[in-house]
Amino acid sequence: MKKYYLETFGCQMNVVDSEQIEDQLRQLGYRSVSEPAAADLILLNTCSIRARAERKVYGHLGRFKPLKERNPELILAVGGCVAQQEGARMLQKVPYLDMVFGTHNVHRLAEMVRQVESRRARPVAVEFLDPETRRRLFPRRVATDSITRFVTVIQGCDNFCSYCIVPYVRGREVSRPHGEILAEVVQLVEQGVREVTFIGQNVNSYGRKEAGEISFAELLRRVEDIAGLERVRFVTSHPKDLSDELIDCFGDLAKLCNHIHLPVQAGSDRILTAMRRGYGRDQYLERVARLRRACPDIRITSDIIVGFPGETAEDFAQTMDLLEQARFAEIYSFLYSARPETAAARLKDATPKADHQARFERLVARQEEISRDYREADLGRVVPVLVEGASRQGAGQLFGRTGWNRIVNFDGDPALIGRMVAVRLTAAQRNSHIGEVVPCSTACEHRLQPSAFSLQSGSL
Ligand code: SAH
Ligand code: SF4
Ligand code: F3S
Repeated sequence: MKKYYLETFGCQMNVVDSEQIEDQLRQLGYRSVSEPAAADLILLNTCSIRARAERKVYGHLGRFKPLKERNPELILAVGGCVAQQEGARMLQKVPYLDMVFGTHNVHRLAEMVRQVESRRARPVAVEFLDPETRRRLFPRRVATDSITRFVTVIQGCDNFCSYCIVPYVRGREVSRPHGEILAEVVQLVEQGVREVTFIGQNVNSYGRKEAGEISFAELLRRVEDIAGLERVRFVTSHPKDLSDELIDCFGDLAKLCNHIHLPVQAGSDRILTAMRRGYGRDQYLERVARLRRACPDIRITSDIIVGFPGETAEDFAQTMDLLEQARFAEIYSFLYSARPETAAARLKDATPKADHQARFERLVARQEEISRDYREADLGRVVPVLVEGASRQGAGQLFGRTGWNRIVNFDGDPALIGRMVAVRLTAAQRNSHIGEVVPCSTACEHRLQPSAFSLQSGSL
Protein backbone atom coordinates (compact mmCIF):
# COMPACT_ATOMS: atom_id res chain seq x y z
CA MET A 1 0.00 0.00 0.00
CA LYS A 2 1.24 3.50 -0.83
CA LYS A 3 1.94 5.85 2.05
CA TYR A 4 1.54 9.59 2.54
CA TYR A 5 3.00 12.04 5.00
CA LEU A 6 0.97 15.23 5.54
CA GLU A 7 1.93 18.28 7.56
CA THR A 8 -0.59 21.05 8.21
CA PHE A 9 0.29 24.63 9.14
CA GLY A 10 -1.85 27.66 9.92
CA CYS A 11 -5.45 28.02 10.95
CA GLN A 12 -8.60 25.92 11.17
CA MET A 13 -9.25 26.45 7.45
CA ASN A 14 -6.18 24.39 6.68
CA VAL A 15 -7.08 21.76 9.28
CA VAL A 16 -10.39 21.21 7.52
CA ASP A 17 -8.79 21.27 4.06
CA SER A 18 -6.31 18.66 5.25
CA GLU A 19 -9.19 16.37 6.13
CA GLN A 20 -10.46 16.71 2.56
CA ILE A 21 -6.95 15.94 1.35
CA GLU A 22 -6.72 12.83 3.49
CA ASP A 23 -10.09 11.56 2.29
CA GLN A 24 -8.93 11.79 -1.31
CA LEU A 25 -5.58 10.17 -0.62
CA ARG A 26 -7.25 7.25 1.12
CA GLN A 27 -9.48 6.78 -1.90
CA LEU A 28 -6.36 6.60 -4.05
CA GLY A 29 -5.11 3.78 -1.84
CA TYR A 30 -2.69 5.73 0.34
CA ARG A 31 -2.42 5.36 4.08
CA SER A 32 -0.89 7.81 6.50
CA VAL A 33 2.61 7.52 8.02
CA SER A 34 4.22 9.71 10.66
CA GLU A 35 7.73 9.71 9.12
CA PRO A 36 8.45 11.54 5.86
CA ALA A 37 11.23 9.06 5.10
CA ALA A 38 8.67 6.24 4.92
CA ALA A 39 6.33 8.06 2.52
CA ASP A 40 5.64 7.74 -1.22
CA LEU A 41 3.93 11.13 -1.18
CA ILE A 42 4.81 14.10 1.02
CA LEU A 43 2.35 16.95 1.22
CA LEU A 44 2.61 20.28 3.02
CA ASN A 45 -0.57 22.27 3.61
CA THR A 46 0.89 25.72 4.13
CA CYS A 47 0.20 29.07 5.81
CA SER A 48 1.30 32.46 4.59
CA ILE A 49 0.04 34.75 7.33
CA ARG A 50 3.50 35.98 8.33
CA ALA A 51 6.80 35.89 6.44
CA ARG A 52 8.19 33.38 8.92
CA ALA A 53 5.40 30.92 8.15
CA GLU A 54 6.22 31.21 4.46
CA ARG A 55 9.96 30.74 5.03
CA LYS A 56 9.25 27.63 7.05
CA VAL A 57 7.73 25.98 3.98
CA TYR A 58 10.92 26.38 1.99
CA GLY A 59 12.91 25.14 4.98
CA HIS A 60 10.79 22.00 5.11
CA LEU A 61 11.05 21.40 1.39
CA GLY A 62 14.82 21.64 1.70
CA ARG A 63 14.76 18.85 4.29
CA PHE A 64 12.88 16.63 1.85
CA LYS A 65 15.36 17.13 -0.98
CA PRO A 66 17.67 14.24 0.06
CA LEU A 67 14.64 11.93 0.24
CA LYS A 68 13.70 12.88 -3.28
CA GLU A 69 17.27 12.29 -4.49
CA ARG A 70 17.24 8.85 -2.93
CA ASN A 71 13.81 8.04 -4.32
CA PRO A 72 12.90 9.88 -7.55
CA GLU A 73 9.44 8.23 -7.44
CA LEU A 74 8.61 10.18 -4.30
CA ILE A 75 5.87 12.77 -4.90
CA LEU A 76 6.32 16.14 -3.24
CA ALA A 77 3.23 18.38 -3.14
CA VAL A 78 2.45 21.80 -1.68
CA GLY A 79 -1.06 23.12 -0.99
CA GLY A 80 -2.63 25.87 1.08
CA CYS A 81 -1.98 29.58 1.29
CA VAL A 82 1.69 29.73 0.24
CA ALA A 83 0.83 27.54 -2.75
CA GLN A 84 -2.01 29.94 -3.64
CA GLN A 85 0.26 32.95 -3.28
CA GLU A 86 3.20 31.54 -5.23
CA GLY A 87 1.58 29.26 -7.82
CA ALA A 88 3.89 28.12 -10.60
CA ARG A 89 6.74 30.21 -9.15
CA MET A 90 7.11 27.50 -6.54
CA LEU A 91 8.00 24.93 -9.19
CA GLN A 92 10.78 27.22 -10.37
CA LYS A 93 12.07 27.92 -6.89
CA VAL A 94 11.95 24.26 -5.92
CA PRO A 95 12.95 22.20 -8.98
CA TYR A 96 12.23 18.88 -7.26
CA LEU A 97 8.64 19.87 -6.35
CA ASP A 98 5.96 17.85 -8.21
CA MET A 99 2.72 19.76 -7.74
CA VAL A 100 1.15 22.93 -6.37
CA PHE A 101 -2.54 23.30 -5.51
CA GLY A 102 -4.21 26.38 -4.10
CA THR A 103 -6.98 26.97 -1.61
CA HIS A 104 -9.83 26.66 -4.15
CA ASN A 105 -8.47 23.49 -5.70
CA VAL A 106 -8.30 21.05 -2.82
CA HIS A 107 -11.04 18.95 -4.46
CA ARG A 108 -8.75 18.36 -7.46
CA LEU A 109 -5.96 16.79 -5.45
CA ALA A 110 -6.71 13.17 -6.40
CA GLU A 111 -6.75 13.98 -10.11
CA MET A 112 -3.47 15.87 -9.79
CA VAL A 113 -1.75 13.07 -7.88
CA ARG A 114 -2.79 10.67 -10.62
CA GLN A 115 -1.26 12.97 -13.23
CA VAL A 116 2.04 12.94 -11.39
CA GLU A 117 1.93 9.19 -10.84
CA SER A 118 1.16 8.33 -14.45
CA ARG A 119 3.18 10.79 -16.48
CA ARG A 120 5.31 12.75 -14.08
CA ALA A 121 3.51 15.96 -15.05
CA ARG A 122 4.05 18.93 -12.72
CA PRO A 123 0.49 20.24 -12.32
CA VAL A 124 -0.36 23.62 -10.84
CA ALA A 125 -3.94 24.54 -9.87
CA VAL A 126 -4.39 27.97 -8.32
CA GLU A 127 -7.44 29.40 -10.13
CA PHE A 128 -10.10 30.99 -7.95
CA LEU A 129 -13.56 29.50 -8.42
CA ASP A 130 -16.82 31.38 -8.84
CA PRO A 131 -19.02 31.73 -5.73
CA GLU A 132 -21.66 29.23 -6.88
CA THR A 133 -19.11 26.48 -7.43
CA ARG A 134 -17.54 27.22 -4.09
CA ARG A 135 -20.90 27.00 -2.37
CA ARG A 136 -21.20 23.49 -3.76
CA LEU A 137 -17.69 22.51 -2.73
CA PHE A 138 -17.68 23.44 0.94
CA PRO A 139 -15.54 21.03 2.89
CA ARG A 140 -17.60 18.36 4.53
CA ARG A 141 -16.59 15.12 6.08
CA VAL A 142 -19.01 13.18 8.10
CA ALA A 143 -17.11 10.02 9.10
CA THR A 144 -15.55 10.73 12.47
CA ASP A 145 -14.92 9.15 15.82
CA SER A 146 -14.21 12.40 17.66
CA ILE A 147 -16.32 14.24 20.18
CA THR A 148 -15.65 17.72 18.77
CA ARG A 149 -15.62 18.87 15.16
CA PHE A 150 -14.99 21.97 13.07
CA VAL A 151 -17.78 22.81 10.63
CA THR A 152 -16.98 25.41 7.95
CA VAL A 153 -19.80 27.95 7.53
CA ILE A 154 -18.10 30.71 5.55
CA GLN A 155 -14.91 30.84 3.50
CA GLY A 156 -12.75 33.73 2.35
CA CYS A 157 -12.65 37.31 3.53
CA ASP A 158 -13.84 40.63 2.13
CA ASN A 159 -12.28 42.88 4.74
CA PHE A 160 -8.84 43.61 3.33
CA CYS A 161 -7.31 44.71 6.61
CA SER A 162 -4.25 46.56 5.38
CA TYR A 163 -1.72 44.09 6.83
CA CYS A 164 -3.43 40.84 5.92
CA ILE A 165 -2.83 38.39 3.10
CA VAL A 166 -5.90 36.22 3.72
CA PRO A 167 -8.24 37.89 1.17
CA TYR A 168 -5.56 37.39 -1.50
CA VAL A 169 -4.97 33.73 -0.75
CA ARG A 170 -8.50 32.63 0.19
CA GLY A 171 -10.60 34.83 -2.08
CA ARG A 172 -13.88 36.59 -1.34
CA GLU A 173 -16.43 35.57 1.27
CA VAL A 174 -18.87 32.83 0.41
CA SER A 175 -21.36 31.40 2.90
CA ARG A 176 -22.54 27.84 2.92
CA PRO A 177 -26.30 27.21 2.70
CA HIS A 178 -27.64 26.91 6.25
CA GLY A 179 -29.64 23.78 5.45
CA GLU A 180 -26.43 21.96 4.62
CA ILE A 181 -24.72 23.15 7.77
CA LEU A 182 -27.59 21.98 9.97
CA ALA A 183 -27.79 18.64 8.15
CA GLU A 184 -24.08 18.09 8.69
CA VAL A 185 -24.36 18.86 12.39
CA VAL A 186 -27.22 16.36 12.74
CA GLN A 187 -25.17 13.68 10.99
CA LEU A 188 -22.16 14.41 13.16
CA VAL A 189 -24.25 14.11 16.31
CA GLU A 190 -25.52 10.73 15.09
CA GLN A 191 -21.88 9.64 14.97
CA GLY A 192 -21.16 10.73 18.52
CA VAL A 193 -20.00 14.33 18.06
CA ARG A 194 -21.12 16.45 21.02
CA GLU A 195 -19.55 19.83 20.21
CA VAL A 196 -19.18 21.72 16.95
CA THR A 197 -17.09 24.80 16.24
CA PHE A 198 -18.33 26.86 13.35
CA ILE A 199 -15.34 28.21 11.49
CA GLY A 200 -14.62 30.96 9.00
CA GLN A 201 -12.31 33.97 8.73
CA ASN A 202 -15.22 36.15 9.77
CA VAL A 203 -18.20 34.10 10.86
CA ASN A 204 -20.14 37.22 11.89
CA SER A 205 -20.73 38.15 8.28
CA TYR A 206 -22.26 34.74 7.55
CA GLY A 207 -25.08 34.95 5.01
CA ARG A 208 -24.75 38.66 4.26
CA LYS A 209 -24.05 38.25 0.56
CA GLU A 210 -26.46 35.42 -0.17
CA ALA A 211 -30.01 36.61 -0.82
CA GLY A 212 -32.46 35.07 1.63
CA GLU A 213 -29.80 33.43 3.82
CA ILE A 214 -30.32 33.51 7.61
CA SER A 215 -28.01 35.48 9.94
CA PHE A 216 -25.26 33.87 11.95
CA ALA A 217 -27.22 34.47 15.17
CA GLU A 218 -30.21 32.70 13.65
CA LEU A 219 -27.96 29.79 12.62
CA LEU A 220 -26.85 29.47 16.26
CA ARG A 221 -30.43 29.53 17.44
CA ARG A 222 -31.35 26.72 15.07
CA VAL A 223 -28.41 24.60 16.20
CA GLU A 224 -29.67 24.96 19.76
CA ASP A 225 -32.57 22.69 18.83
CA ILE A 226 -30.42 19.77 17.65
CA ALA A 227 -30.93 17.01 20.21
CA GLY A 228 -27.76 15.31 21.42
CA LEU A 229 -25.49 18.24 20.64
CA GLU A 230 -24.10 19.67 23.88
CA ARG A 231 -22.05 22.64 22.77
CA VAL A 232 -21.42 25.15 20.02
CA ARG A 233 -18.44 27.46 19.56
CA PHE A 234 -17.31 29.68 16.70
CA VAL A 235 -14.15 31.37 15.38
CA THR A 236 -13.30 34.00 14.26
CA SER A 237 -15.43 37.05 14.96
CA HIS A 238 -14.73 40.47 13.56
CA PRO A 239 -15.60 43.21 16.09
CA LYS A 240 -17.15 45.46 13.44
CA ASP A 241 -19.66 42.74 12.53
CA LEU A 242 -20.52 41.59 16.04
CA SER A 243 -24.23 42.41 16.15
CA ASP A 244 -26.39 42.92 19.24
CA GLU A 245 -28.41 39.96 18.03
CA LEU A 246 -25.30 37.76 18.14
CA ILE A 247 -24.19 39.10 21.53
CA ASP A 248 -27.62 38.29 22.96
CA CYS A 249 -27.12 34.66 21.93
CA PHE A 250 -24.51 34.37 24.69
CA GLY A 251 -27.20 35.16 27.24
CA ASP A 252 -29.96 33.13 25.63
CA LEU A 253 -28.53 29.93 24.23
CA ALA A 254 -27.66 27.12 26.64
CA LYS A 255 -25.40 25.33 24.16
CA LEU A 256 -23.31 28.33 23.17
CA CYS A 257 -20.05 28.23 25.15
CA ASN A 258 -19.05 31.21 27.27
CA HIS A 259 -16.05 32.14 25.13
CA ILE A 260 -15.48 34.48 22.22
CA HIS A 261 -12.30 35.13 20.29
CA LEU A 262 -12.54 38.77 19.24
CA PRO A 263 -9.30 40.00 17.69
CA VAL A 264 -8.72 43.68 18.48
CA GLN A 265 -5.28 43.99 16.78
CA ALA A 266 -4.39 47.36 18.39
CA GLY A 267 -5.55 49.78 21.07
CA SER A 268 -4.93 53.05 19.26
CA ASP A 269 -7.54 54.59 16.98
CA ARG A 270 -4.86 55.91 14.68
CA ILE A 271 -3.43 52.43 14.12
CA LEU A 272 -6.87 50.80 13.87
CA THR A 273 -7.68 53.24 11.08
CA ALA A 274 -4.39 52.53 9.33
CA MET A 275 -5.15 48.83 9.67
CA ARG A 276 -8.60 49.43 8.09
CA ARG A 277 -10.34 47.53 10.82
CA GLY A 278 -13.59 49.44 10.62
CA TYR A 279 -13.97 50.13 14.35
CA GLY A 280 -12.33 52.32 16.98
CA ARG A 281 -11.07 51.59 20.45
CA ASP A 282 -14.23 52.81 22.21
CA GLN A 283 -16.47 50.83 19.91
CA TYR A 284 -14.46 47.71 20.65
CA LEU A 285 -14.66 48.26 24.40
CA GLU A 286 -18.40 48.90 24.11
CA ARG A 287 -18.79 45.49 22.41
CA VAL A 288 -16.80 43.91 25.24
CA ALA A 289 -19.00 45.59 27.88
CA ARG A 290 -22.15 44.45 26.12
CA LEU A 291 -20.85 40.88 25.87
CA ARG A 292 -20.22 40.90 29.61
CA ARG A 293 -23.69 42.25 30.32
CA ALA A 294 -25.24 39.50 28.19
CA CYS A 295 -23.08 36.79 29.78
CA PRO A 296 -21.21 37.91 32.91
CA ASP A 297 -18.94 34.86 32.91
CA ILE A 298 -17.89 35.13 29.26
CA ARG A 299 -14.16 34.83 28.53
CA ILE A 300 -12.81 37.01 25.80
CA THR A 301 -9.58 36.22 23.96
CA SER A 302 -7.92 38.33 21.31
CA ASP A 303 -5.16 38.83 18.75
CA ILE A 304 -2.79 41.79 18.89
CA ILE A 305 -0.23 42.94 16.35
CA VAL A 306 2.77 44.90 17.63
CA GLY A 307 4.88 47.06 15.36
CA PHE A 308 2.43 48.02 12.63
CA PRO A 309 4.25 50.60 10.42
CA GLY A 310 4.22 53.98 12.11
CA GLU A 311 3.21 52.66 15.54
CA THR A 312 4.54 55.16 18.10
CA ALA A 313 5.24 54.74 21.80
CA GLU A 314 1.95 56.50 22.45
CA ASP A 315 0.03 54.15 20.14
CA PHE A 316 1.56 51.21 21.94
CA ALA A 317 0.68 52.70 25.33
CA GLN A 318 -2.93 52.70 24.13
CA THR A 319 -2.66 49.00 23.36
CA MET A 320 -1.25 48.33 26.83
CA ASP A 321 -4.10 50.33 28.33
CA LEU A 322 -6.66 48.41 26.32
CA LEU A 323 -5.26 45.23 27.87
CA GLU A 324 -6.21 46.60 31.30
CA GLN A 325 -9.67 47.64 30.18
CA ALA A 326 -10.60 44.54 28.22
CA ARG A 327 -8.99 42.01 30.57
CA PHE A 328 -8.62 39.29 27.98
CA ALA A 329 -8.31 35.77 29.30
CA GLU A 330 -5.58 35.06 26.72
CA ILE A 331 -4.13 36.78 23.69
CA TYR A 332 -2.17 35.70 20.66
CA SER A 333 0.36 38.40 20.00
CA PHE A 334 2.31 38.86 16.80
CA LEU A 335 5.06 41.10 15.55
CA TYR A 336 3.89 42.81 12.39
CA SER A 337 5.14 41.13 9.24
CA ALA A 338 4.89 42.82 5.82
CA ARG A 339 3.01 40.62 3.36
CA PRO A 340 3.06 40.75 -0.44
CA GLU A 341 0.21 42.63 -2.16
CA THR A 342 -1.16 44.10 1.08
CA ALA A 343 -1.64 47.87 1.42
CA ALA A 344 0.52 48.12 4.55
CA ALA A 345 3.50 46.53 2.78
CA ARG A 346 4.09 49.88 1.06
CA LEU A 347 4.24 51.82 4.34
CA LYS A 348 7.56 52.95 5.79
CA ASP A 349 8.45 52.44 9.41
CA ALA A 350 11.01 54.52 11.28
CA THR A 351 10.92 52.64 14.58
CA PRO A 352 13.92 50.34 15.16
CA LYS A 353 13.09 46.63 15.24
CA ALA A 354 14.50 46.34 18.75
CA ASP A 355 11.89 48.82 20.04
CA HIS A 356 9.06 46.78 18.54
CA GLN A 357 10.59 43.66 20.07
CA ALA A 358 10.79 45.32 23.51
CA ARG A 359 7.16 46.43 23.25
CA PHE A 360 6.14 42.97 22.20
CA GLU A 361 7.81 41.49 25.26
CA ARG A 362 6.10 44.00 27.56
CA LEU A 363 2.74 43.12 26.07
CA VAL A 364 3.29 39.38 26.46
CA ALA A 365 4.52 39.79 30.05
CA ARG A 366 1.56 41.91 31.17
CA GLN A 367 -0.94 39.62 29.52
CA GLU A 368 0.68 36.63 31.19
CA GLU A 369 -0.01 38.26 34.57
CA ILE A 370 -3.65 38.82 33.67
CA SER A 371 -4.03 35.27 32.35
CA ARG A 372 -2.46 33.93 35.54
CA ASP A 373 -4.96 35.89 37.61
CA TYR A 374 -7.79 34.23 35.71
CA ARG A 375 -6.25 30.78 36.13
CA GLU A 376 -5.81 31.23 39.85
CA ALA A 377 -9.22 32.78 40.41
CA ASP A 378 -10.74 29.70 38.77
CA LEU A 379 -9.30 27.32 41.37
CA GLY A 380 -12.00 25.66 43.43
CA ARG A 381 -14.74 26.31 40.88
CA VAL A 382 -16.94 23.44 39.79
CA VAL A 383 -17.66 23.75 36.11
CA PRO A 384 -19.13 21.63 33.33
CA VAL A 385 -16.56 19.89 31.16
CA LEU A 386 -17.20 17.92 27.99
CA VAL A 387 -14.98 14.84 28.19
CA GLU A 388 -13.10 14.52 24.89
CA GLY A 389 -10.76 11.58 25.37
CA ALA A 390 -7.73 10.06 27.05
CA SER A 391 -5.30 12.67 28.33
CA ARG A 392 -1.68 12.84 27.24
CA GLN A 393 -0.81 13.44 30.89
CA GLY A 394 -0.78 9.80 31.89
CA ALA A 395 -2.55 6.50 32.29
CA GLY A 396 -6.13 6.68 33.51
CA GLN A 397 -6.36 10.42 32.93
CA LEU A 398 -9.02 11.99 30.78
CA PHE A 399 -9.22 15.45 29.33
CA GLY A 400 -11.97 17.82 28.37
CA ARG A 401 -12.59 21.54 28.08
CA THR A 402 -14.37 24.14 30.09
CA GLY A 403 -16.91 26.37 28.37
CA TRP A 404 -14.16 28.96 27.96
CA ASN A 405 -12.04 26.43 26.11
CA ARG A 406 -9.51 25.64 28.80
CA ILE A 407 -8.16 22.09 28.83
CA VAL A 408 -8.71 20.19 32.07
CA ASN A 409 -7.04 16.87 32.92
CA PHE A 410 -8.59 14.59 35.52
CA ASP A 411 -8.89 10.93 36.61
CA GLY A 412 -11.94 9.18 35.25
CA ASP A 413 -13.52 6.17 33.64
CA PRO A 414 -13.16 6.16 29.83
CA ALA A 415 -16.91 5.51 29.72
CA LEU A 416 -17.26 9.22 30.46
CA ILE A 417 -15.84 10.17 27.05
CA GLY A 418 -18.48 12.14 25.17
CA ARG A 419 -20.34 13.10 28.35
CA MET A 420 -20.68 16.35 30.25
CA VAL A 421 -19.32 16.10 33.78
CA ALA A 422 -18.92 18.48 36.68
CA VAL A 423 -15.25 19.08 37.44
CA ARG A 424 -13.68 20.94 40.34
CA LEU A 425 -10.59 22.83 39.22
CA THR A 426 -7.84 21.95 41.69
CA ALA A 427 -4.55 23.14 40.19
CA ALA A 428 -3.56 25.52 37.42
CA GLN A 429 -0.78 25.03 34.90
CA ARG A 430 0.26 27.33 32.07
CA ASN A 431 -1.86 25.67 29.39
CA SER A 432 -4.30 23.53 31.32
CA HIS A 433 -5.97 22.93 34.65
CA ILE A 434 -6.02 19.80 36.74
CA GLY A 435 -9.38 18.85 38.16
CA GLU A 436 -11.49 16.16 39.76
CA VAL A 437 -14.88 14.90 38.70
CA VAL A 438 -17.51 15.62 41.34
CA PRO A 439 -21.14 14.62 41.52
CA CYS A 440 -23.38 17.22 40.02
CA SER A 441 -24.71 19.48 42.70
CA THR A 442 -25.77 23.03 43.21
CA ALA A 443 -22.06 23.85 43.42
CA CYS A 444 -21.88 23.57 39.69
CA GLU A 445 -22.12 27.03 38.29
CA HIS A 446 -22.95 26.64 34.71
CA ARG A 447 -25.65 26.69 32.16
CA LEU A 448 -25.57 22.97 31.64
CA GLN A 449 -28.06 21.00 29.70
CA PRO A 450 -30.25 19.82 32.58
CA SER A 451 -30.94 16.50 30.84
CA ALA A 452 -27.30 15.71 30.20
CA PHE A 453 -26.36 16.65 33.67
CA SER A 454 -28.89 14.68 35.65
CA LEU A 455 -28.08 11.70 33.47
CA GLN A 456 -24.43 12.14 34.25
CA SER A 457 -24.82 12.66 37.96
CA GLY A 458 -26.98 9.54 38.15
CA SER A 459 -24.13 7.45 36.85
CA LEU A 460 -21.42 8.85 39.07
N1 SAH B 1 -9.86 36.47 10.32
C1 SAH B 1 -9.27 36.64 11.56
C2 SAH B 1 -7.78 36.54 11.59
C3 SAH B 1 -7.02 35.62 10.75
S1 SAH B 1 -5.30 35.77 10.82
C4 SAH B 1 -9.62 38.01 12.04
O1 SAH B 1 -9.80 38.92 11.30
O2 SAH B 1 -9.67 38.16 13.22
C5 SAH B 1 -4.93 35.54 12.53
C6 SAH B 1 -4.21 36.68 13.13
O3 SAH B 1 -2.94 36.83 12.53
C7 SAH B 1 -4.84 38.03 12.96
O4 SAH B 1 -5.88 38.25 13.88
C8 SAH B 1 -3.69 38.97 13.18
O5 SAH B 1 -3.53 39.30 14.53
C9 SAH B 1 -2.49 38.14 12.73
N2 SAH B 1 -1.94 38.67 11.49
C10 SAH B 1 -2.53 38.73 10.30
N3 SAH B 1 -1.71 39.31 9.39
C11 SAH B 1 -0.58 39.63 10.04
C12 SAH B 1 0.65 40.27 9.66
N4 SAH B 1 0.85 40.70 8.42
N5 SAH B 1 1.61 40.44 10.61
C13 SAH B 1 1.39 40.01 11.87
N6 SAH B 1 0.28 39.41 12.29
C14 SAH B 1 -0.71 39.21 11.39
FE1 SF4 C 1 -7.34 39.21 7.56
FE2 SF4 C 1 -8.83 41.20 8.37
FE3 SF4 C 1 -9.91 39.26 6.92
FE4 SF4 C 1 -9.16 38.79 9.41
S1 SF4 C 1 -10.77 40.20 8.76
S2 SF4 C 1 -8.76 37.50 7.64
S3 SF4 C 1 -7.35 40.05 9.65
S4 SF4 C 1 -8.37 40.73 6.23
FE1 F3S D 1 -2.61 30.96 7.36
FE2 F3S D 1 -4.11 30.72 5.25
FE3 F3S D 1 -5.15 30.39 7.64
S1 F3S D 1 -2.57 32.26 5.57
S2 F3S D 1 -3.92 31.70 8.94
S3 F3S D 1 -3.63 29.10 6.73
S4 F3S D 1 -6.13 31.30 5.88
